[in-house]
Amino acid sequence: MSTLVVLGTQWGDEGKGKVVHYLAADSDYIVRYQGGNNAGHTLIYQDKPFVLHLIPSGILFPKKICMITNGVVVDPKALKEEIDVLKKKKIPVDGRFFVSERAHVILPYHKLIDGMLESDTTKTKIGTTKKGIGPCYTDKVRRVGIRVIDYIDKEVFVELLDQNLKEKEDMLKKVCDIKKLRKEILKDHEVLSKFLKKYAADTSLMLAEAIKKKKKILFESAQGTMLDLDYGTYPFVTSSNPTSGGASTGTGMGPACVDDVLGVVKAYTTRVGEGPFPTELFDKTGEFLRDKGQEYGATTGRPRRCGWFDAVVLRHSVRVNGIKRLILTKLDCLEGLDKIKVCVAYKYKGKILKEFPASRIVQRDCKPVYEELPGLDGKVAGVKSYDKLPKNAKKYIKRLEELVGAKIDLVSLGRKREETIKTGKNVKWF
Ligand code: IMP
Repeated sequence: MSTLVVLGTQWGDEGKGKVVHYLAADSDYIVRYQGGNNAGHTLIYQDKPFVLHLIPSGILFPKKICMITNGVVVDPKALKEEIDVLKKKKIPVDGRFFVSERAHVILPYHKLIDGMLESDTTKTKIGTTKKGIGPCYTDKVRRVGIRVIDYIDKEVFVELLDQNLKEKEDMLKKVCDIKKLRKEILKDHEVLSKFLKKYAADTSLMLAEAIKKKKKILFESAQGTMLDLDYGTYPFVTSSNPTSGGASTGTGMGPACVDDVLGVVKAYTTRVGEGPFPTELFDKTGEFLRDKGQEYGATTGRPRRCGWFDAVVLRHSVRVNGIKRLILTKLDCLEGLDKIKVCVAYKYKGKILKEFPASRIVQRDCKPVYEELPGLDGKVAGVKSYDKLPKNAKKYIKRLEELVGAKIDLVSLGRKREETIKTGKNVKWF
């Protein structure tokens, strides 16, 4: 086994940053395949929280190769800021970090349009991160986008920029002075194009060579399956495919190159932004989970909506991603609850639904059918091996496995890399 896809199975924020940081130790390459700086991966580095938005957390290991591939949308300014922070911390970046020449570039007008669409009361509010993600992917699909390879060639860039400003004129003139905006973009471009050129590469070719050499490659998604453009709670989704198929189109690697798919799942559920969330809690238990899990958006600081574990969502996720193994995170955050509920099905107009529905109305109005389990009888935080977990914690893990149809191989019990336990002796990644 040499290639693994690691992805989120819920609405993002499952703890992928920490998991990738854990698995990166055994990998040679860590590759981010979709999304942009809408993501926020929080990890603990040298005992302090550290947030990465674009660059894979593997960068914290000095010898690993990290990539942002063609499925990602890249804000050059945000990337530079992230690299500057890494360099300040004396983390080497040059020569081991690469950005696909085919990745699309987010420009300031994408952010302006994102903000405008979000405040337009005639449109469905999605609750985006306002980082320009949707408008940038929209341009990609409309074939007017600007890729890294176009951005680093001044002549091509200016021509495409002018085309874009012209066609977006009616919209942009409502919120800015277009001439001034053009001047600012060109000023930034002088610095940012030189910066981006250093990292631009044919990452698909590099990956093909790495696969031939049997290098260990970790493909990392951002967001989660329920925010997937095709299989999430459309239209309340992001504009890319965090699902496992995205790892193929988003990197330029054929699907047969994927050896295994690992799903990251939180012991309860959270969501930021608008949209359906059948197991959402509006009571003290919801507040308890938000407090205990520090559930505040790493990118926007927004409080996350919290709720019970939803096995219907997970079954859907296991199926659409072809997940064989799961990594359960934040089990320690359930400590202190007398009872734990798990949603096993939905009820809609008197009917029991076992599969996640496509209809936005059913998603909104269905009610969760719960099974109640006893609270974790004792401390799980700090536990060093699976055998030492309290009986009810093991019972919870086993029940989740039965309900979702996949094995839980790893359990995360805290924010640090080390606070992670395997559920069996033979658990291996590569
Ligand atoms: P966008 O990706 O900024 O367009 O936002 C679309 C939806 O995805 C919104 O509901 C966001 O809150 C959500 N979203 C985007 N990135 C993340 C993430 O990293 N974690 C959780 N939700 C996210």
